[in-house]
Amino acid sequence: MPFPRSPRWPKSVVGWAVDSRQKGVPFVREELRRLHKEILATLSQVSTEKEVSEVRVKSLGRKGTLTQLLKRLGSLPEADRREIGRLANEIKEDLERRIEEAISHIRERERKEALERERIDVTLPGRRIPVGTKHPITQILDEVIDIFSRLGFEVVEGPEVELDYYNFEALNIPKGHPAREMQATFFISDEVVLRTHTSPMQVRTMEKKRPPVRMICPGAVYRCDSDPTHSPMFHQVEGLLVDRGITFADLKGVLTVFVHQMFGEKTKLRFRPSFFPFTEPSAEVDIECFICGGIGCGVCSNTGWLEILGSGMVDPAVYEFVNYDPEEVTGFAFGLGIERIAMLKYGIHDIRLFFMNDLRFLKQF
Ligand code: DAH
Repeated sequence: MPFPRSPRWPKSVVGWAVDSRQKGVPFVREELRRLHKEILATLSQVSTEKEVSEVRVKSLGRKGTLTQLLKRLGSLPEADRREIGRLANEIKEDLERRIEEAISHIRERERKEALERERIDVTLPGRRIPVGTKHPITQILDEVIDIFSRLGFEVVEGPEVELDYYNFEALNIPKGHPAREMQATFFISDEVVLRTHTSPMQVRTMEKKRPPVRMICPGAVYRCDSDPTHSPMFHQVEGLLVDRGITFADLKGVLTVFVHQMFGEKTKLRFRPSFFPFTEPSAEVDIECFICGGIGCGVCSNTGWLEILGSGMVDPAVYEFVNYDPEEVTGFAFGLGIERIAMLKYGIHDIRLFFMNDLRFLKQF
């Protein structure tokens, strides 16, 4: 914006003094008022702080128009100087005040504009933050752990890369034993395997601890196996209870409580004779098919029953490996597959759905 200059009074002190002397005080007064008005007019047109600052510098600054004019007052006669001086000072003060006002107006306006710009509509609906859920396998694991924790079982965990000794040997499955064939194993080397079940933790726990032992071991296990109902990696929960005087009745009691808490108080279960090298006698536990209520359907292969876990009394041969005296203590063990329970519970036909991480699937749990 062009700043008003004062072409009507000469630049030099002499020129101005001459003019003022010739034309008298009224001329000077007029000039002052005119300058005053001009500056105010400029000030009224500016809209930023920077522009106001320019006006200040160009009028009141060291080389400003008003400053220059005031410097020249010395050339006026004594009597006039006082009157003009007073007027000049009034104008100066007025300008200073107006400049301050202009600045505070601008600041106020900018503050309002900013508030308006940044205004928040508190009535708008909030943006939802997507919240995750626990994976269905984790949910079932947690449930199983909860139930056995309440029954006084401690939770232990063990290595997924395991020695052949713990995975097979000390569980009464020597090299060349046909039971090894049942667990298609990922071998790391001759003596190291990816554990095929959580049972090795039975041995590791008893090695470390004297009876009584009451533990469960949740974790991932691996088998060289892959079809709609078998995954190379899946989860089991192992259980072991060893103490003096433990009988098959304790096994039945504990597993019955578990089934009732997990599947409902009215769920029927049966203990079906079976074989595991590390338990004797052994039993598999079936529950009545909750899909068809025992009549027979596709899920239970028309048997009316669903197999949910393996169990048995710890074979005395296993105690030999951990220096427990089979004459003194007895106990039972069990192992259950988490994916299998989840598939039964939710009616899922393909185990691979659990590991594909498709949110459309996972969101349903
Ligand atoms: N480890 C067995 C498996 O993976 C399951 C099992 C059966 C565990 C009987 C046990 C048991 O503790 O007593 O097939």
